[in-house]
Amino acid sequence: MSQVETTDRVAQGVIGDLFADIHDELASVEQRLQEELRSQHPSVDQVVRHGYRLGGKRLRPALLLLAGKACGELTESHATLAVVVEMIHTATLVHDDVLDEAAIRRHVDTVNARWGNETSVLLGDFLFSHAFYLASTLSTTDACRMIGQSTNRLCEGEMRQTLAEGDLLISEEDYFGIISAKTAELCACCCELGAKYAGADSDRTEALALFGRNLGIAFQIADDLLDISGEEATTGKSLGRDLAKGKLTLPLIHARDTLVDGPRNRLLAQIKQGDESLSKEILATLRELGSLDYARRTAEQFAAKAAEQLDRLPESAAKATLELMAEFVVARSA
Ligand code: FPP
Ligand code: MG
Repeated sequence: MSQVETTDRVAQGVIGDLFADIHDELASVEQRLQEELRSQHPSVDQVVRHGYRLGGKRLRPALLLLAGKACGELTESHATLAVVVEMIHTATLVHDDVLDEAAIRRHVDTVNARWGNETSVLLGDFLFSHAFYLASTLSTTDACRMIGQSTNRLCEGEMRQTLAEGDLLISEEDYFGIISAKTAELCACCCELGAKYAGADSDRTEALALFGRNLGIAFQIADDLLDISGEEATTGKSLGRDLAKGKLTLPLIHARDTLVDGPRNRLLAQIKQGDESLSKEILATLRELGSLDYARRTAEQFAAKAAEQLDRLPESAAKATLELMAEFVVARSA
């Protein structure tokens, strides 16, 4: 398939072709995840293997591997770390689904829907602990320290978000601070790890970390758009959770700041009610005010900022794929 055709398919949100260059490495990640996510206790094994099924696009392992390839040769450490970051990501999603009271993820029941919150919290802990155990098998503590720092910030971001639930006056700045911590932090860490373990110099490592951060922000804005205006059948996860939980994401913040007087108060009252029956009305208001377009344009700007960082790297197939990933995260429909 030509680069142009690949670009078109990426613009349509088709990810399969995108990772052709790291197909074998990603297949090893899958195999390793299947081997690691096991328990000798059948009841635990069932839950842990469900955790494996929650895996999705494998964007984080891909970021780590592509960042490594864009800077040099992949090593055994990359292979291990790609598994580590996916386990951490899955742990955060298992906990997130408890917080969001979500029923479906990746087209299957969430752990909380099938086994309840207690088991979900413990599966998240299992995955998180397993990830750090694996990272500790590397010959230096660098990765553990970097990932630990990143997950500290990630948890802080998630706490900020939870504490801001129902805050109808949340600023755009706070919104960006929260998504930068809860989502972009781990993406930046993946890219930084990939570069560092390929022996990259500080300029290239910084470029990739900034690439990951901006890409992560673009990704989360697009994710928040899908939560409001996407299709559950396509995304395979419970949507409308942000409104149900009183979380104001970028389109809503834009609409709130565009409207004045009565219409503004009406929108805020609808959000406060958190009633699913009002979501169609709210969506119509967002469309009318151009708030969805505003959020999409903002996501595109962050994706473009991410791609700009790649100018600091030499040409390579991995760099070209990272460029396409920046397009994909905004264009995707799932
Ligand atoms: C998805 O948000 C959630 C995150 C990006 C981070 C969640 C982090 C935690 C719950 C903290 C727990 C952390 C550890 C280390 C176990 P979303 O709800 O906007 O996305 P979604 O639509 O995919 O659910
Ligand atoms: Mg969620």
